[in-house]
Amino acid sequence: MLLSGRGSNFVAIARNIERGRIPAEIVGVVSNVADAEGLERAREMGLRTYAAPHAPGISREAQEAKVIEALVESRADWILLAGYMRLLSKTFVDRYPQRILNIHPSLLPSFPGLHPQRQALAAGVKISGCTVHFVDAGLDSGPIVLQRAVPVEDADDEEALSARILAEEHLAYSDALCALLRSSWRIHGGRVLFEKGLPGG
Ligand code: GRF
Repeated sequence: MLLSGRGSNFVAIARNIERGRIPAEIVGVVSNVADAEGLERAREMGLRTYAAPHAPGISREAQEAKVIEALVESRADWILLAGYMRLLSKTFVDRYPQRILNIHPSLLPSFPGLHPQRQALAAGVKISGCTVHFVDAGLDSGPIVLQRAVPVEDADDEEALSARILAEEHLAYSDALCALLRSSWRIHGGRVLFEKGLPGG
């Protein structure tokens, strides 16, 4: 699990694992921000944590090498980005083919990058949501696993829309992970295809 901030998506997944809803184990939580709230939550849960900060003087390669060290040491099979505010290099992504996931608070490919909720409001869309997708070396690109939609209300500001989307993120990430771990799927033509359709979809 890679995060940079409060880690609510990580906590939602950790709870669902505890409840036996996802057949997985969190073997480590890595952050590029040494004092990230999410790392604190992980410590409280007794999980192994790693800090790989990108301080001045530390190259992008050196920072990523630290992250990879943590992944190797913890023997991670899957890498989940949960509010990890850093682009991964092609070398990193190529090392874990079809094993890195991200969650983004918009219906991709609309509104990639920073402040997607603000972008959605500025564009005047009536529906937004969240996307769980495989990670490639691009910005919030990569094959889509699952999306959940929410209405954009007239009275919404960025905070209200973000909160409505976040509640869906907490469901979407666990559902996507569960689907990938429990069913047969393949990636074809840039699409994630589940042999028996997306479970519950
Ligand atoms: C979420 O909205 C996620 O989609 C985005 O960053 C936010 C992280 O929130 N990539 P949290 O740290 O999981 O609470």
